[in-house]
Amino acid sequence: MRTLREIASLRETLDDCRRRGQRIALVPTMGNLHAGHLALVESARRHADVVVATIFVNPMQFGPNEDLDAYPRSLAEDQRKLEGAGCDLLFAPATATIYPRSLEAQTQIRVLEVSEGLCGGSRPGHFDGVATIVGMLFNLVQPQVACFGEKDYQQLAVIRRLVADLHFPVEVVGVPIVRADDGLALSSRNGYLAPEQRAIAPRLYRTLEELRQALEAGEPVETTLAAGLARLDDAGFVPDYLELRAPDLGPITTATREARLLAAARIGPTRLIDNLTLTLP
Ligand code: PAJ
Repeated sequence: MRTLREIASLRETLDDCRRRGQRIALVPTMGNLHAGHLALVESARRHADVVVATIFVNPMQFGPNEDLDAYPRSLAEDQRKLEGAGCDLLFAPATATIYPRSLEAQTQIRVLEVSEGLCGGSRPGHFDGVATIVGMLFNLVQPQVACFGEKDYQQLAVIRRLVADLHFPVEVVGVPIVRADDGLALSSRNGYLAPEQRAIAPRLYRTLEELRQALEAGEPVETTLAAGLARLDDAGFVPDYLELRAPDLGPITTATREARLLAAARIGPTRLIDNLTLTLP
């Protein structure tokens, strides 16, 4: 696997691949990789001839009081894992390569409705930063396929809409959530959890599973979600949201069958998110 840091060498290398008629898949990440990220690389492998992963901790998507500086960075270890998972090319640019003029690009992509509410409610501007960097990576790499995890379900919905609205010729592949044995969705931020917090963390997923059973059995949505919030509270979380939405994150209606249950909750300063799919009766 080659690691490239400059835009010119990335373009040159990918132009060569295109001349050879190779199909290119993109896996954008912020590094500190775990099995969830590697599942994206494996999925990309199945969809293309050349897999390009990117590692870039994107300042534009972090709020002023978020963990940009503390965000874990582990390039050498990440390179080893990517190579093992079958990645061909890693693009790991410096911040000044991506944002040479100022930390905030003056040209920004904002995907309106789907970025609002849920995580967008408590992280204003976050999805503008995500949409802008992903749009930039689509432009730099020009992949035929791009893989994103369902773990960040709203992010996936934002990117699907970005691709549709701006007519990017990219197939977006959503990859199911990879979990620890106790059900906790793998996340770079799990490393922030103290042992006693890590012991509580899987109750987020367990609560979602219990709610799924209740909702699939026809229990009323509003009271079931209220009971779920109370359960998270009892377990030691400070819940941020717990919502049932249509798969495209629009509101559910009486006609909705397949739905997404989504939650965000904090344990101490660490914010965890999770979601699952369910079928309403
Ligand atoms: P990051 O948090 O590093 O995640 C990179 C990709 O890995 C995302 O598509 C995310 O959904 C996926 N992922 C993370 N944990 C996962 C898990 N447990 N199972 C499956 N997939 C998982 O998301 C970002 O970076 C950034 O916002 C980015 C898209 C790179 C733009 O900066």
